[in-house]
Amino acid sequence: MRRIFVAGNWKMNKTVEESVALAKELKAALGHNPPCDVAVAPTYVAIYPVAQALEGSPVIVAAQNTFWKESGAYTSQVSPQLLKAAGASWVIVGHSETRGRFGVEEKVENEDALKVFGDNDASVNAKAKFAIAAGMGVIVACGELLSERQAGTTDAVVSAQIEGALKGIPASDVKDLVIAYEPVWAIGTGEVCAADEADRVCGVIRDTVKKLYDDATGESVRIQYGGSVKADNAKELLGKPNIDGALVGGASLKVADFMGIINNA
Ligand code: PGA
Repeated sequence: MRRIFVAGNWKMNKTVEESVALAKELKAALGHNPPCDVAVAPTYVAIYPVAQALEGSPVIVAAQNTFWKESGAYTSQVSPQLLKAAGASWVIVGHSETRGRFGVEEKVENEDALKVFGDNDASVNAKAKFAIAAGMGVIVACGELLSERQAGTTDAVVSAQIEGALKGIPASDVKDLVIAYEPVWAIGTGEVCAADEADRVCGVIRDTVKKLYDDATGESVRIQYGGSVKADNAKELLGKPNIDGALVGGASLKVADFMGIINNA
């Protein structure tokens, strides 16, 4: 049985003060026996105070990104070791926004500048590998652009991202991984992927893991769906056989909305 895992990605939306207030409110609302695993990913600068505020709570603190070196002259980067010391135990790698793959790129003012985020399959792989070695839980995100979906390449794009991300990671580590399937066109747009289609692509991801490893590893990997998950669509999504949780952006910024999703787990 795979335990449902609902993670809130706060992205760049909350100050330190606001993050701590949100964490405290969530801690109180969730209590000690949540119906599923629950994580929040504050911005780097808020990880430490949020982790302090969540002490004694089952809420997991995650980071939104990391780097593949422990320490040294890597200006602006944050290693898994630094994240752990600040109180994070999980990390998201390969989010489409850190890959510079934006679904609403036509609305972005400085499109070229945004490409400097620039994660690719190799960097996502290096980050995942290094974070696992450091003892962190890892959520690997993948997902196709609208243009790739329209071209009929969704399954190939997502499978290639997963194959690239997992390169060299042994089955014994992959079985504990979480993969987030996040169609880029559904992120922050209010346009959720139909539950059957989300489930189908999550099944493609599971089959990819089975092919790369074995059936048992594929069956134990948890696969989240992400992209405009809300309380009112969570029940149907989380009820699907290949969807084991949700990676939630916008609806994780208000406790009532986030709890609405968790309570559907
Ligand atoms: P959204 O974001 O829920 O606001 O669509 C999801 C994500 O990017 O993880």
